[in-house]
Amino acid sequence: MTSNALTVPAVALGTWAWGDSGQPGDGYFGSRLSQSGLREVVEKAQSNGFTLWDTAVAYGMGRSETVLAQALAGYDRSEYQLSTKFTPQLAGDGADPVADMLEQSLERLGADYVDLFWIHNPADVARWTPPLIPLLESGKIKHVGVSNHTMEQIALADRILGEAGLRVEAVQNHFSLLYRGSERAGILDYCREHDVRFFSYMVLEQGALTGRYDPANPLPEGSSRAAVYNGILHRLGALTDRMGAIGADRGASAADVATAWAIAKGTTPIIGVTKAGHIDGLVRARGIELADAEVAELEALADAADVDTRGWWEQEME
Ligand SMILES: NC(=O)c1ccc[n+]([C@@H]2O[C@H](COP(=O)([O-])OP(=O)(O)OC[C@H]3O[C@@H](n4cnc5c(N)ncnc54)[C@H](OP(=O)(O)O)[C@@H]3O)[C@@H](O)[C@H]2O)c1
Repeated sequence: MTSNALTVPAVALGTWAWGDSGQPGDGYFGSRLSQSGLREVVEKAQSNGFTLWDTAVAYGMGRSETVLAQALAGYDRSEYQLSTKFTPQLAGDGADPVADMLEQSLERLGADYVDLFWIHNPADVARWTPPLIPLLESGKIKHVGVSNHTMEQIALADRILGEAGLRVEAVQNHFSLLYRGSERAGILDYCREHDVRFFSYMVLEQGALTGRYDPANPLPEGSSRAAVYNGILHRLGALTDRMGAIGADRGASAADVATAWAIAKGTTPIIGVTKAGHIDGLVRARGIELADAEVAELEALADAADVDTRGWWEQEME
């Protein structure tokens, strides 16, 4: 059995963008990032109780993990939780590619265990789940989650771990106002009923749902997210305007409302913070209680936008 139950803050922090070079327009996100700016993000987050950091070797081929470790330098290991992933497509050809990738992540992270270790995607559930068992038993990983898995794949991974008296404790899928396949597929209900924590990623649709970007002020030219979202920003105005208005009543922003929505759905959002000011937003979001009618209204506006934001790496959940 795992040593203790998985307990997590109301919001987890994502560091995919931290794998970019930091030069404006360059990389997946194309935001201007500096090590001192990210240190500010860490300090503000840590002091506000946001202590769970999600990363992956796939984010900038190790750069996100390295930059995160630098930004966390000086904090005691017990003050923060690390969440990283085994990405099947990057598996090496050694005898135990899962253990090898973990070892390399631990080195970059300057850690001797991770709190939450994920199978990044369901390339081959029967192959990649069993190697997690010795890693859990040795304490190198404290908890296991699966990401981008369908209901059947989650159940298969859980059965495999179950044979060793272990279990899948967390699921991490794309889940935003615009992308609710995990709810329709029954995965949210499954998680609630089986005490599995559901982490929603891309709650802000990489910036498109923050209200900060619109056709006149698009996502950074040349970045991958611009190529995905700039063409649909004109369909999102009614939704982001309403999110902004709901937020304004509470001294909050559209982005805060998107995050509050994910919390209201019983999930733990993983928000890809890039600026210290984003943490203020998460503090506000943590305190917002959306009425059922507000949730329904936002979901209706999201459906009316009629856009498909499935990532190129994702499969349909339904
Ligand atoms: N398991 C998987 O396959 C998978 C896939 C995708 C993501 N993830 C995880 O989920 C995390 C979140 O996803 P994401 O980073 O792709 O996208 P996201 O959280 O939807 O959006 C991140 C972008 O929104 C802006 N932003 C962040 N916090 C904000 C706030 N509080 N207020 C206003 N704007 C804010 C930033 O843009 P600016 O820099 O332009 O301000 C940031 O780059 C990732 O970092 C990663 O850890 C996992």
